[in-house]
Amino acid sequence: MTEDSIAEIKDHFRERLNKYTRKAFQMLPKLEKPRILDIGCGSGVPTIELANLSDGEIIGIDINQSLLDKLDRKIEEEGFSSRVKTVKCSLFKINFPDESFDIIWAEGSIWTIGFEKGLREWRRLLKPNGFLVVHDEIKTVSNKLKKITSCGYKLVNHFLLPEDAWWTEYYGPFEIRVKELHMKYKNDSEALKTLKKYQNEIDMAKSDPEGHSSAFYIMQKS
Ligand SMILES: C[S@@+](CC[C@H](N)C(=O)[O-])C[C@H]1O[C@@H](n2cnc3c(N)ncnc32)[C@H](O)[C@@H]1O
Repeated sequence: MTEDSIAEIKDHFRERLNKYTRKAFQMLPKLEKPRILDIGCGSGVPTIELANLSDGEIIGIDINQSLLDKLDRKIEEEGFSSRVKTVKCSLFKINFPDESFDIIWAEGSIWTIGFEKGLREWRRLLKPNGFLVVHDEIKTVSNKLKKITSCGYKLVNHFLLPEDAWWTEYYGPFEIRVKELHMKYKNDSEALKTLKKYQNEIDMAKSDPEGHSSAFYIMQKS
């Protein structure tokens, strides 16, 4: 059992949350061949879903090259090489020219820079009337909604994921799998060490459900 095989399992369960990526995408008007920037794409579960949902060109950026390598493999397997690319870059220093994108998508990454700073700094990358879609933790939704206007956007829509979504779709099934692996590898101390790390992550999600609740914000540059 390797870290890679666990990452694959995590991606598999992460895909169960793609229904919310689809819901957010459907709140946008229909755009012809949009240019999309996926900020903090990781191994690209939402990136691949965006490629399925749109006929556009997508660039996924992330600081972690090994996650981008995984996404590169998926892009090839899914036949998206002509229109989906990855670029290793920090979300603090995005070097694309102004007004490069019709849509910026950021799931689980804006907390790194902060909601307000992310909104302000990424705005220049959007074409006039372009869209920014952020999936972020649920804490301080009302503050965030106020910041959207003051940062130069209008709110198109927002929605909260059901309170138990991360548990029922992701952490719960992941915990069952981790327990199965625990049995299978009960005599392999290295594997057990790896599994312990993931069980700790699951336990944290169990003990802090609010910290693992999340919301989508669909914004338009004004
Ligand atoms: C919670 S993961 C989300 C991955 C993917 N968007 C998803 O929803 O499945 C956050 C991602 O942000 C990336 N990240 C963290 N800090 C970053 C930075 N300074 N620049 C670029 N990416 C960063 C991490 O490497 C990770 O892939």
